[in-house]
Amino acid sequence: MGRESGGKRVSESGLPVEPVYGPEDLADWDPVAKLGEPGGYPFTRGVYPTMYTGRPWTMRQYAGFGTASESNARYKQLIANGTMGLSVAFDLPTQMGHDSDAPIAHGEVGKVGVAIDSVDDMRVLFDGIPLDKVSTSMTINAPAALLLLLYQLVAEEQGVPADKLTGTIQNDVLKEYIARGTYIFPPKPSLRLIADIFAYCKAEIPKWNTISISGYHMAEAGASPAQEIAFTLADGIEYVRTAIAAGMDVDDFAPRLSFFFVARTTILEEVAKFRAARRIWARVMREEFGAKNPKSQMLRFHTQTAGVQLTAQQPEVNLVRVAIQGLGAVLGGTQSLHTNSFDEAIALPTEKSARLALRTQQVLAYETDVTATVDPFAGSYVIEKMTDELEEAAVALMRKVEEYGGAVDAIEHGFQKNEIERNAYRIAQETDAGERVVVGVNRFKLDEEEPYEPLRVDPAIEAQQAERLAKLRADRDQAAVDAALTALRQAASGSDNVLYPMREALRARATVGEVCNTLRDVWGAYVPADAF
Ligand code: 3HC
Repeated sequence: MGRESGGKRVSESGLPVEPVYGPEDLADWDPVAKLGEPGGYPFTRGVYPTMYTGRPWTMRQYAGFGTASESNARYKQLIANGTMGLSVAFDLPTQMGHDSDAPIAHGEVGKVGVAIDSVDDMRVLFDGIPLDKVSTSMTINAPAALLLLLYQLVAEEQGVPADKLTGTIQNDVLKEYIARGTYIFPPKPSLRLIADIFAYCKAEIPKWNTISISGYHMAEAGASPAQEIAFTLADGIEYVRTAIAAGMDVDDFAPRLSFFFVARTTILEEVAKFRAARRIWARVMREEFGAKNPKSQMLRFHTQTAGVQLTAQQPEVNLVRVAIQGLGAVLGGTQSLHTNSFDEAIALPTEKSARLALRTQQVLAYETDVTATVDPFAGSYVIEKMTDELEEAAVALMRKVEEYGGAVDAIEHGFQKNEIERNAYRIAQETDAGERVVVGVNRFKLDEEEPYEPLRVDPAIEAQQAERLAKLRADRDQAAVDAALTALRQAASGSDNVLYPMREALRARATVGEVCNTLRDVWGAYVPADAF
């Protein structure tokens, strides 16, 4: 229905939604300037000339839990079911750079993703999966460099050269300060590490997407579509400035930047959101940064359907929500898509619910006609009007971030976080008041919910991981590990690229915790301004 504000219908971004749109809404609208050709500047219609008529988006289901062998089994199931790309979820200790046997890891090992402590675990994770045949996304941020290097080391053992590897590391720490929270180091060393990753990948792993600049988590925290675009692209601008300041030419790294957005159930506004984001980014890259390579101007992105819109009540209704959200992402031109499992508001997906989520994408790709033509909404009165209005709203918010001096300064003033929290509070109020309908939750409820048996992670895996770590530490050449960590410490204290000594430490079987603790010693740990 869209929500009401002062008697008028408004979009999720608070923009007016008219009951009817017509030619007058696009009176002075110039399709050449606003749209361009598919695969051409400003890429409003999509980043490739043929889009899905050439190749469907990558069906890339986010998965991972428990030990590396359990996750390896799930990846093989997904590949057997037709998934086209892997997407690794790591547990919190790994994401925060702690070993599974560190006291702080207790109770979290293998819980929200797979536990990876060393190259031994990474080898098990990809056992029997040829790394020159898959593209792998890894949702890892502060320790992204480590997991990328572990992936490269395992590929090397498989005989796959680094320049054949394709995939993505999320590596977007700025949004962790704003919304998600898995940061380790303060902003300055974090940005230095990200610039080192860009330079390392340019030299060593040229087909790797070095970052997935994410709006998803800000949206899950309550950001509106306009805020999602604005704060994500503002983070992107910060990363581009950082890499240029580190001496790189914009066309050396920008083609391998990528993005990650949510897909909400309000799909008209979502389609407009994706098109507005592509147009803003293309203009920023060409006009502000002078990018010449069209690949530097393309906003290529992954989409995940909105986890926060899943309900624990009547969970099967989520199948409908996810199908609609997935349709919105496809109509908006996504390059890669994760469709949530219907039971994810309750627990980790079962094998059956994970398969259903993938089947949803396969119905979109192979039973509908939305892949038959490029950007089907082009020229639509409402979509083009919404695209223009969202672009205007997002650019205004980006200007506010600029007034603070850019994304990092705005983060340190709490600007993005406060804006998102204000929007989240409004959504909660509208839901509680019943103005915002959530089927099964505040309308069309059941008197008694039907029982549902979720998948549970075996708590014994914490002990298993601790045993693996004890064995690893007993077997390895400790002197080699110590020497490699010393070399890493020296690089981190200076200006040399830290990924080279980091790779050799991991090769010598240093653990994720040991490498991150070495960097914590040198760079310190981030404490948010509002921490109590
Ligand atoms: N015409 C011509 N070429 C085409 C084409 C077409 N129609 N379609 C695709 N291609 C080519 C591309 O050019 C590319 O080749 P290249 O790499 O040599 O340029 C190749 O085919 C692969 O296509 P894409 O790059 O478009 O698709 P990918 O799937 O490989 O990459 C991406 C997509 C968005 C660029 C990439 O960054 C990616 O896969 N991101 C995924 C991120 C992800 O999965 N994140 C999960 C996060 S989970 C999370 O954080 C939530 C949790 O916290 C709750």
